[in-house]
Amino acid sequence: MQGSGPLNGVVPIGGAKNSALKLMAASLLAEGSTSLLNVPDIADVAIMGELLEAMGVQIERVGNRIDIDVPAELDPVAPYSLVERMRASIVVLGPLLARLGRARVAMPGGDDFGSRPIDMHLQGLEQLGATFSHEHGDITGKADRLVGAEVLLEFPSVGATENLMMAAVLARGTTIIENAAREPEITDLANFLSQMGATIDGLGTSRLTVEGVEVLRPTTYTVIPDRVEAATFLSAVAVCGGELLLKGARSDHMEMLIRKLQEMGMSLAAEPSGLRVEVRNRLRAVDISTLPYPGLATDYKPFLVTALCVAEGAGMVTENIFAGRFRYIDELVRMGAEIRAEGRHAVVRGVERLSGAPVRAHDIRAGAALVVAGLAAEGETIISDAHHVDRGYEDLAGKLSSVGALVTRT
Ligand code: UD1
Repeated sequence: MQGSGPLNGVVPIGGAKNSALKLMAASLLAEGSTSLLNVPDIADVAIMGELLEAMGVQIERVGNRIDIDVPAELDPVAPYSLVERMRASIVVLGPLLARLGRARVAMPGGDDFGSRPIDMHLQGLEQLGATFSHEHGDITGKADRLVGAEVLLEFPSVGATENLMMAAVLARGTTIIENAAREPEITDLANFLSQMGATIDGLGTSRLTVEGVEVLRPTTYTVIPDRVEAATFLSAVAVCGGELLLKGARSDHMEMLIRKLQEMGMSLAAEPSGLRVEVRNRLRAVDISTLPYPGLATDYKPFLVTALCVAEGAGMVTENIFAGRFRYIDELVRMGAEIRAEGRHAVVRGVERLSGAPVRAHDIRAGAALVVAGLAAEGETIISDAHHVDRGYEDLAGKLSSVGALVTRT
C-alpha cells in the first residue's frame, strides 16, 4: 500500500462481527430455520459456521444472508481445532447447556491480548445450576434444567453477559444479571432473543432481567452495523483527510468515539443514511482511556493510536480492558511513529508523516490499524499475516481503494 491523499466518497458499513457471531450461537436455542441478514462475509463468521456445522447444523449463505437450520438433536461439542482459531467460540456454551443440558467446549488458549480467562462465564453458569469438569483441555458442562438466579459479574464482561443471557432465556424462573455489559452488540443479542420469544428486561442497562421460557422459535433478524469497521474508516479519514459518508453507520452506538474525534478537530454529522465525516486540517492530539461501553471501546484503540501518530502534539493512551494490547505499537514504531509504551499506558507524540515499512499484523484490529498507518506513510508499506484482517473485515482493501486509497490485497 502507498501513502494516500484525501479520501472521498461513500463506504458501506457491514454487519457487526461481534454481534453476528453471537446471534449465530444463539440460533442453537431454537429448533428450525433461523435467517440472519446483514452478516459480513468474513473469516470469523465462516469459523462459527464450521463450528455449528460440526454440531449437526446446516448453514447456507446467500449474499449477506445466512440460513441456519438447527436440528432437534445436536452434537454439543466445540473442538479445540475450531476454538483455537476463534476464542469467541466459547459463546456456544450457554446455549448448549440451556437447550441440551450438556456441552463439551475446548478451553480457549492465550492470544495476543494476553491471557483471557473465562472464569466469569463458568461461575455465572454454575449459579444457574450447571456443573463443570476440566479434562484433556476441554470443559464439560452439565445441567438437568438450568434454574434462574441472581448473578453479579465482577466486571461487565461482554462474553460472560452473552453466555449468561443465552443460558437464562431457557432456564426455569428469573435470572438477574447485575453489572452486565452494555455494548450495542449485547442489546442486539437481547433483541434477537426477544424476537425468538425470550423475555428480557433492562436492555442497554447494567441490570438485565431474564424470565425463562419453555421454548424459543426460530426467526429472521438483521444484524446491527459494525461500529469498529466504522471506526476504521474514521481513522483513515483522520490520517488522510477528505470527506466520507459511512453508509449505515449508527452514530448512537459510537457517541464517545465521535466526541473524541471532534475533540481532535474532525467534523462528524449523523445523517439519515449514515455518518458523514470531514477532515481538512491536521488533527490535534488528545488523551484516550478505554472503558466498557458507553466508554471508549478497547477495539477502537489501535485506530486512535494511529490517528495520534500523525496528529499535532502528544496524547496519553490508557488501556483498562486488556492488559497486553499494545503489540502493534512496535510495528508503528518501525514506521517512524514516536510512541513510548509501558504497562497499560502509552504516550504518542505526533510526527508529520510516517514512513512506509514492512510490518506484521498480530490481530484483526491491529492489522487494520497498520493498513490505516500505511495510508499516512510515505512510500510503500507491506503488511504480512494480513489473514488476521480478513477475520474481521469484508474487503477492507477494496472499500478503501473505492474512496481513493492506494491499497491492494495480494
Ligand atoms: C469482546 C469482543 C472484543 C472486545 C471485548 C471488550 C467479541 C467476539 N469480542 O471480547 O472484540 O475487545 O469484548 O469490549 O465480541 N474477563 C475475565 N474473566 C472472564 C471474562 C473476561 O477476567 O470470564 C476479563 C478479560 O480478560 C478482559 C475483560 O474481562 O480483561 C473484558 O473481557 P470481555 O468483555 O469478556 O471481552 P470478550 O467478550 O472476550
